[in-house]
Amino acid sequence: MAEINSDINQAKELLDADQLIGLPTETVYGLAGNGLKANVVSKIFEVKNRPHFDPLILHSYSLNAISEYVKEIPETAKILAKAFWPGPLTILLERNEKIPDLTCSGLNRVAFRIPKHPNALSLLKILDYPLAAPSANPFGYISPTNSQHVQQQLGDKIPFILEGKISEVGIESTIVGFENGETVIYRLGGLDVDQIESLIGKVRILPHSSSKPDAPGMLKSHYAPSKNIILGNIEELIEQNSNLKLGVLSFSKYYKDVETSLMLSKSKDMHEAAKNLFSHLRKLDESNVDLIITEKVPSEGLGKAINDRLQRAAVKE
Ligand code: TXA
Ligand code: MG
Repeated sequence: MAEINSDINQAKELLDADQLIGLPTETVYGLAGNGLKANVVSKIFEVKNRPHFDPLILHSYSLNAISEYVKEIPETAKILAKAFWPGPLTILLERNEKIPDLTCSGLNRVAFRIPKHPNALSLLKILDYPLAAPSANPFGYISPTNSQHVQQQLGDKIPFILEGKISEVGIESTIVGFENGETVIYRLGGLDVDQIESLIGKVRILPHSSSKPDAPGMLKSHYAPSKNIILGNIEELIEQNSNLKLGVLSFSKYYKDVETSLMLSKSKDMHEAAKNLFSHLRKLDESNVDLIITEKVPSEGLGKAINDRLQRAAVKE
């Protein structure tokens, strides 16, 4: 079992000794280690059981600190950083030789983010290196949004989890990068694309692909519970599966004739829905239901990112 408390000095001591810790962020909890050391980064891949072709995100506390590790920071990146950092946005930048190949899976760009979580930020400020931190779940499984989730999934593999209460955003960061002067969204996430567009104009959103692992956010099946999950029309699915114990994850409506019915947001608030998404999925996965049934939410604001996660949770493969 990992020790859990909010002592950033204890966290620093362990990280300085090349150990991994659970890191609270406003999006989801991360599995963090020194992102400049290949031997540490290698442990992250191992603990998560993550394929080496899936690169990691580095976490820092300031744009100035980040500039030490990249060739240049494009003007658009500066505008986005100024507006949305700290916050649920990750920016891909051309890396320099200080970043080990393994951190970026050998790609030319490195992903950077400044998280908006007081404990994470205080910790990052006292470290001499950025923290590599993928979500702290076994590869392909539901991302953790509190310290107990991390304890359950990885507690026997790491010595320490920095306490930080519930992740307020609840889904992973939005990932942007730049290609031939165009701004590209590689993964929909906790920062609404409309907010990005209102600042810098139209952006291109990449469709997912299971066969193109260098495009972030990428693998088709992800965020998946171990129980079967079907995405569709809830009423029809209840009728078709009336012989089973059903767990329903709806947007805002309660279903009384099923084993368990959870709503993402009774008041149809997309931020609340995002915050509840992974913890509700996890509750249903841990409950005694035979099948999880869910539906898409309206494709507005964070709804697009929520639907992306639901779709991939429902894909088996
Ligand atoms: O909100 C978040 O981003 C959380 C918290 C802990 O910060 N982290 C997170 O990390 O979601 P992870 O490893 O679960 O997802 C990182 C995504 C991966 O899909 C990866 O492929 C992509 O970022 N990525 C990282 N570096 C990349 C690069 N250089 N080029 C392309 N994609 C990259
Ligand atoms: Mg992840």
